[in-house]
Amino acid sequence: MTQPHPSEFFGPEQAETYEARFAKLAALRDALLLVTRTAFHSLPDNARILCVGAGTGLEILDLARFRPGWTFHAVEPAPAMLDKCRIAVATAGMGDRCTFHEGFLDSAPEAEPFDAATALLVSHFILERSARQAFYAEIARRLRPDGRLVTAELVSDPGGEDHAGIMETWYDTLRYAGADEAGIEAYKGSFARGVSLLGPGEHTRLIEQAGFFRPVPLFQAVLMRGWLARRI
Ligand SMILES: C[S@@+](CC[C@H](N)C(=O)[O-])C[C@H]1O[C@@H](n2cnc3c(N)ncnc32)[C@H](O)[C@@H]1O
Repeated sequence: MTQPHPSEFFGPEQAETYEARFAKLAALRDALLLVTRTAFHSLPDNARILCVGAGTGLEILDLARFRPGWTFHAVEPAPAMLDKCRIAVATAGMGDRCTFHEGFLDSAPEAEPFDAATALLVSHFILERSARQAFYAEIARRLRPDGRLVTAELVSDPGGEDHAGIMETWYDTLRYAGADEAGIEAYKGSFARGVSLLGPGEHTRLIEQAGFFRPVPLFQAVLMRGWLARRI
């Protein structure tokens, strides 16, 4: 199995509370969205953007407000998250600028190549390295040459000397966001079952091997790191 089905971690209850649970960390989320906007800033006015693991639609809403001519294709395997995304996009009056695919990217309909893609906080759920590389290769296949990908994930080398300190700081970050000790223990259990970490060097290599030029680091906060990569 390359990963447990995402609806195990992103069911109706988690989808309902997803944004509120991390509200105290909104500044980190906003910083990630800011660097995504800067990375996409010079795209054409009619750019088409593929959002993989679109979740409740946060990046789509942000990018859609930034550039009114851009259109989006949201790919999301967890139905409850996609429902929230559809509602958020429709409520923002942007329903005519977004199409939706419930499922994984490899089952999405073929389309004209996209100008850019996002995969924000998604790929660490793909447990096997080869499957994670295939995930990025499928994104590359759907981008035009030189098309841009902004990707962010949880990143740390489990064998690295910083790892224990990074994880402890990450749990403190979640405590700050509102998790109690039972919540931290539950999180550790889900993390052990559903998340696989790679170090930054290994993650960068994996993206390159999937068909991108060497990714540019964009963002780092505790366990989260983001890159801009351009398709070869
Ligand atoms: C932490 S949420 C991030 C959502 C959104 N990108 C954001 O930044 O708010 C991760 C999302 O990725 C989805 N996901 C997990 N594995 C996936 C995969 N292999 N392909 C596409 N989406 C996936 C989950 O269902 C979930 O909605």
